[in-house]
Amino acid sequence: MELYVLRSKEEIGLEIGRRIVERVKQNPYIVLGLATGSSPLFTYEAIVKYSLAEYVSYKNVTTFNLDEYVGLEETNKQSYRYFMNENLFKYLDFKKESHHFPSIENMSNYDEEIKNSGGIDIQILGIGSNGHIAFNEPFTNIDEKTHIVELTENTIKDNSRFFKSISEVPTKAITMGLNTILQSKEIFLIATGKNKSMAVKKMLEGKYDPSFPASCLNLAKCKVHVYIDDECYEGIK
Ligand code: GLP
Repeated sequence: MELYVLRSKEEIGLEIGRRIVERVKQNPYIVLGLATGSSPLFTYEAIVKYSLAEYVSYKNVTTFNLDEYVGLEETNKQSYRYFMNENLFKYLDFKKESHHFPSIENMSNYDEEIKNSGGIDIQILGIGSNGHIAFNEPFTNIDEKTHIVELTENTIKDNSRFFKSISEVPTKAITMGLNTILQSKEIFLIATGKNKSMAVKKMLEGKYDPSFPASCLNLAKCKVHVYIDDECYEGIK
């Protein structure tokens, strides 16, 4: 795992955005694994900015999102598909059919689809305050592939900030499993703010602890770049 400490979440976005756009230029058929939540927002903004400025095309790029709530239509503003359309897809020339989101219908084939597309070249990840990645909650089996999960109270509470009330937060989601994520060829994890300090600290301990899903990244065979801001770093020192 490589740790990068940058001044702000904006700087992290610019840095990762730049790196990803360079990779898309080198390989127009790249397969991107995408995350939602607030952490990757500046990265998506930077990808759009650099790609438009440099006329980078996404017509041959394939995307696989990490997770999606069960029971939200794509027109629902809280669905992850809506989030991706609004924050990234609609600005660039992606083909609609190049986007993949896990669902009840496709979850048993999702890992196979990823494999058939050549595997995820770059996976963007956030981290939950309880160490969840995607929606893999504590004690998720490390061999798990894409599957359905019951969200924990902690995650429902964390994510309720995006909904009008906590009762509107879905209680189930479909998520790539830890095994799926560990097959990625390169991972960029973003964690900003002091409420992520403890989670990052635990992840950086260097060993796998099943009660803390993000620590499985210590077992990854690929490069894992962990980007944090000063505020997050302050709480780790
Ligand atoms: C959700 C998503 C995760 C994300 C996490 C952190 O639970 N399913 O993929 O990493 O939230 O979100 P944020 O980046 O807003 O802190």
